[in-house]
Amino acid sequence: MASNAIQIPRSTTSPLQAAVSLSPSAGGSFSARRDSVHAHAVGKVLHPIAQDEIKLLLLENISQDAVRAFEKQGFQVDHFTKAWSEEELIAKIGQYHAIGIRSKTKITEPVLKAASKLLVIGCFCIGTNQVDLVTAARAGIPVFNSPFSNSRSVAELVMAEIISLSRQLFDRAYEMRTGVWNKVSKNCYEIRGKTLGIVGYGHIGSQLSVLAESFGMRVLFYDVLILMPLGSARQVETLDELLSQSDFVTLHVPELPETTNMISAPQLAAMKKGAYLINNARGRVVDIPALVDAVKSGHLAGAALDVYPSEPGSNGSAFDDKLNSFATGLRSLPNIILTPHIGGSTEEAQRMIGDEVASALTRYLNYGSTIGAVNFPEVDLRAIAAEQANQVRVCHVHVNQPGVLREVNDILSPFNVEKQYTDSKGAVAYLMADIADVTPRDVQSIYDRISQTRANILTRLLA
Ligand SMILES: NC(=O)c1ccc[n+]([C@@H]2O[C@H](COP(=O)([O-])OP(=O)(O)OC[C@H]3O[C@@H](n4cnc5c(N)ncnc54)[C@H](O)[C@@H]3O)[C@@H](O)[C@H]2O)c1
Repeated sequence: MASNAIQIPRSTTSPLQAAVSLSPSAGGSFSARRDSVHAHAVGKVLHPIAQDEIKLLLLENISQDAVRAFEKQGFQVDHFTKAWSEEELIAKIGQYHAIGIRSKTKITEPVLKAASKLLVIGCFCIGTNQVDLVTAARAGIPVFNSPFSNSRSVAELVMAEIISLSRQLFDRAYEMRTGVWNKVSKNCYEIRGKTLGIVGYGHIGSQLSVLAESFGMRVLFYDVLILMPLGSARQVETLDELLSQSDFVTLHVPELPETTNMISAPQLAAMKKGAYLINNARGRVVDIPALVDAVKSGHLAGAALDVYPSEPGSNGSAFDDKLNSFATGLRSLPNIILTPHIGGSTEEAQRMIGDEVASALTRYLNYGSTIGAVNFPEVDLRAIAAEQANQVRVCHVHVNQPGVLREVNDILSPFNVEKQYTDSKGAVAYLMADIADVTPRDVQSIYDRISQTRANILTRLLA
């Protein structure tokens, strides 16, 4: 790919000058600042070689814990409770090196074009489709999110649903709210000794496995990968084997073409009579009209759904047939628990999201690590040892094209390259290298020469 395919020109003044100036704030030498502790820094604590203070913009009321974590790193933080419009972002984003958002702020191509200093984007949420990920990557900007911080919250909700379905809890509670006393034990069961079938044994499925066993359940799971079972859980070879043996089937797979309508009429028919289905994964994994039929016919004894093919964009909206044609049929069934996609919605999950994304942004700004980035090659280097005082870390984002390594290695060849790693994702590649015995003059020259190579998108030096 030609270098002119990069659509967004990065500022050639500020990052360039900022990145190579050895100011008093950077210690005036390559010796590390040791004023902060960072999990990544088993060895030397790195910072951008820059006189500019790193400025962060946090929108949508991101947690004060995250603000404090950034301030502890010496970053300047502007914190706002609301999302910003595209116009506001375009007007003001040019002064920031990093931005933290939730789902309402849209980082579009025009916003990225105006973001001349922007180095990194943090989505303090699960999804990242509010960001133009491809344009961001091509501008050398990794995007981080927090996909797994709420796994425990989902697993706990599933436990609640298993007991609630087994005891018809929601129907009894609803009757009491409408003034009806209906003391029932028929078809109400303990969950002890029952079999839970987990489809997808990833972050959520495996947590759930442990919780379910502690309630005395027998756990089976089905996954496309062969995975180490936790506790006494057992992996089965086929989905049908799991469906035919389980009293409760719970889904924890991602939404993929292969998982769309993964549970439809034939799979429902393969489930035990009187079993229950639970879906907290994604709405399209279950063929819901087929599920309505299976409950109506009495083949299934109930179901819990937290996710739907179409979900309203805001609270207070209707959940009706206009949104999903099956809504009325579903709402009128007995022993059906319907929740508005709250599986991961807890205070603890929010806090974990704050910690995780704040530390990913800090790791990138200070150490260049892109582990966990959703739109970028994932590259990291082990820490520079504390005694390796005048080592410099080169972070070079470039167009993924032949000849780049030869050019960069030619520039680095007078030095000892202690370690180096490069990877690519689509049109963008990222190289990290730690080089030894570098003087301030060398830094200027290394920076100038690498950033002038044809494929350069962004070069930063850390020390
Ligand atoms: N309801 C909520 O609020 C909520 C919150 C968090 C996550 N989720 C959803 O839960 C689901 C699971 O999340 P996770 O964090 O455990 O994901 P994960 O990536 O950790 O695990 C998914 C597992 O599914 C397996 N898998 C993929 N395709 C499969 C297939 N065809 N058959 C069987 N197994 C398959 C994978 O190998 C993996 O082990 C995702 O869809 C996620 O979006 C929902």
